[in-house]
Amino acid sequence: MSSYSEASAPGKVILFGEHAVVFGMTAVATAITMRAKVRTVPAGTLTFNGKRIEKEENPYPYHAMEEAELDGADMNVISEIPPGAGLGSSAAVSVAMLASLRRDWDMKTVASAAYRVELLSQGRASPLDTSVSTYGNTVVVSRENSAEELWSIRGREVEWHISSLAVRPMEIVIGYTGHGAPTGPLVEHVRQLHSRFSLAREAIEEIGQIAEEGRRKLMESDYEGVGRLMNRNQRLLALLGVSTKELESLIEAVAAYSYGAKLTGAGGGGCIVVLTDRSEKVADAIRRRGGLPYICRTGAEGMRRHEPEG
Ligand code: PMV
Repeated sequence: MSSYSEASAPGKVILFGEHAVVFGMTAVATAITMRAKVRTVPAGTLTFNGKRIEKEENPYPYHAMEEAELDGADMNVISEIPPGAGLGSSAAVSVAMLASLRRDWDMKTVASAAYRVELLSQGRASPLDTSVSTYGNTVVVSRENSAEELWSIRGREVEWHISSLAVRPMEIVIGYTGHGAPTGPLVEHVRQLHSRFSLAREAIEEIGQIAEEGRRKLMESDYEGVGRLMNRNQRLLALLGVSTKELESLIEAVAAYSYGAKLTGAGGGGCIVVLTDRSEKVADAIRRRGGLPYICRTGAEGMRRHEPEG
């Protein structure tokens, strides 16, 4: 019998509804082919990539240990997903950690434990990232129940229903600005705007309506419609102050070759996601503005446990 356990989970892009989802609005995210892989070995204490770490420095593995009801483990992470880039790196690592630590857990148990790990580590979070990383494919989070429901959770102020969405895989290009920003402070910034300004509350409501419409257009494979809605979603994210000059510059550069483009994730840096059927042209445009393009497909596989070698 092998002494280690290994699991991997995908990153994601948010097609519609980041930030607004925290307030109970609808959001849609899809898994991408970049993955994080975690190998764990049972141990009496916690080490992370060969080092002892403090909880303040990196709370995620600590909360994962608590969720898994274990005292310790040696954890090693290999991730293709740039951190703080809006691609769900921390969610993918949390899901892979839990799937590796608890081989007896099903997807629903991993998804809900990973959500709590994110929430406790980040301060405020929706179950969007952790759900799409667990289940893969394309996932909708909304206040309403649906026939395709995967699981649901009641947060402090809202109830979220997480469902799968039957969407044909699409070609997308991700454009990385080269630097990211931590999610927590951006979520807090939007929370403050929401509590102080009716304009911010209206923008958040409108993002929710766009996501609802986007969900229908995605199911109809109406890419022109999806793209137009992505552009509208982006303008509202900019209004909420989470876009940056670099993100806007990449979005402007790809406009001529795409159906639509927007930032993905918390913003403040990180990545744009572009819906296009001219990936190479989009990739060139991103490169010319100093960004890093990744051409990939949506709807990637969710968490996977790997059989130990030998
Ligand atoms: O930047 P990321 O990949 O951590 O995505 C954050 C998405 C938010 O909607 C801003 C927060 C959340 O928990 O849903």
